[in-house]
Amino acid sequence: MPLPPSASIAAISRHSGQAVTLAGWIAGKTEKGKLVFLRLRDGSGLIQCVVFRKNVAEETFTAAQSLTLESSCRISGVVRADERAPGGFEIDVSNVEIVQLAPEYPIQPKEHGVEFLMEHRHLWVRSAKQHALLRIRAEITAAAQEWLNDQGFVRFDSPILTPCAAEGTSNLFATQYFDLGSAYLGQTGQLYVEAGMMSFGKVYCFGPTFRAEKSKTRRHLTEFWMIEPEMAFATHEDNLVLQEQFVSAIVQRVLERRAADLATLERDTATLERCLPPFPRITYDDALDLIARHHAEVEGCTPLPWGEDLGAPHETLIASRFDRPVFVERFPSAIKAFYMEPDPQRPDVALCADLLAPEGYGEIIGGSQRIHDVALLERRIRAYGLNLDDYQWYLDLRRYGSVPHSGFGMGIERATAWIAGTHHIRETIPFPRMLYRMYP
Ligand code: 4AD
Ligand code: MG
Repeated sequence: MPLPPSASIAAISRHSGQAVTLAGWIAGKTEKGKLVFLRLRDGSGLIQCVVFRKNVAEETFTAAQSLTLESSCRISGVVRADERAPGGFEIDVSNVEIVQLAPEYPIQPKEHGVEFLMEHRHLWVRSAKQHALLRIRAEITAAAQEWLNDQGFVRFDSPILTPCAAEGTSNLFATQYFDLGSAYLGQTGQLYVEAGMMSFGKVYCFGPTFRAEKSKTRRHLTEFWMIEPEMAFATHEDNLVLQEQFVSAIVQRVLERRAADLATLERDTATLERCLPPFPRITYDDALDLIARHHAEVEGCTPLPWGEDLGAPHETLIASRFDRPVFVERFPSAIKAFYMEPDPQRPDVALCADLLAPEGYGEIIGGSQRIHDVALLERRIRAYGLNLDDYQWYLDLRRYGSVPHSGFGMGIERATAWIAGTHHIRETIPFPRMLYRMYP
């Protein structure tokens, strides 16, 4: 039996001066006379392994010379501290065991077009930049859940196959569900998480959500992951406070734990370091004023009549006026979902907010206080042209012990794109699903 790896590259400093066996893939190779330099990648990091002809058996040297990009192997040797080495250590190789010799690897260390890379996404995820991005994504999802758990929230998962719409009817993916008619892939877990909220007080769901959006923008996927907290006895104001604490905690944890990955991505961390509560807030009305005065500053940004939704250029302009994420609150009810509580002072606007990320990344969170009055909710369901029968269970939540409650949803990919500073959302999820892409 071959030896299991006795060390990981990330923790190699613990083995300084010792003999170890590392298992991984070849990320690069250069030869210089009696020396072969192998760059080994094991998933935790990269290290240079030096094979000196005089120190190894002839077969070992030949094996090292034969290694190709992405070949898998086990490398044994002594860990040597070396200030000039990127991670501070190198391996003085004593043995090389090839696990599989890879034929010519499709992704070479040259510039490839994004379409080519997307077509090879299953291999592209090994590249340094993609690796750093997806690690940051993993940190964000872990941080989000652990922070909510620490605040007493209980994870309560929503179904994906659902009988009716929750966020508009124009972007539903439908499938035939046996003899029961159409099922729709969930656009949000919110409605179900509201049922959980009435059982646990504070809950969240976390899972994939689906929107058949025909938009081909850098911010839209048809399948994305959303984390959706919901709190009982909580107002719009409470909701904003929760969001700013939640987002700051996630950003600060990524800064602490993923500094190396942020550096790989050449992320300027100054705006992330400023991401501390309280976040500025402006109303939709004030946002329209701001747009009227400054629209010329952003390409494609035009003044908006009251009642129209913000587009990407409007969000970019608004965010550019602030040094950290900004809430835009109290949108016209008519352009928002049926379940949002109207502002009692001004019923034509909703007690809702979108959180816009800095630097042109746009909306990362949408949330609101929910209607808790059964009669009002019934009227709204009808006014939106939805079938009341489909929502009886949801109305029950307002019949039995109804309370003011609020919640929000944060898109993991949008949050990752901003925090990691990557232009297009497609690289923030292992296998993006978009209007024109479903492979691999
Ligand atoms: O604003 P949205 O549509 O809100 C909801 O679905 C609420 N039910 C959430 C809640 O209150 N529980 O979506 C929330 C977030 C957006 O801010 C964005 O981050 C992300 O989900 N999102 C998308 N991300 C990628 N691609 C898309 N097509 C997205 N649509 C929404
Ligand atoms: Mg939204």
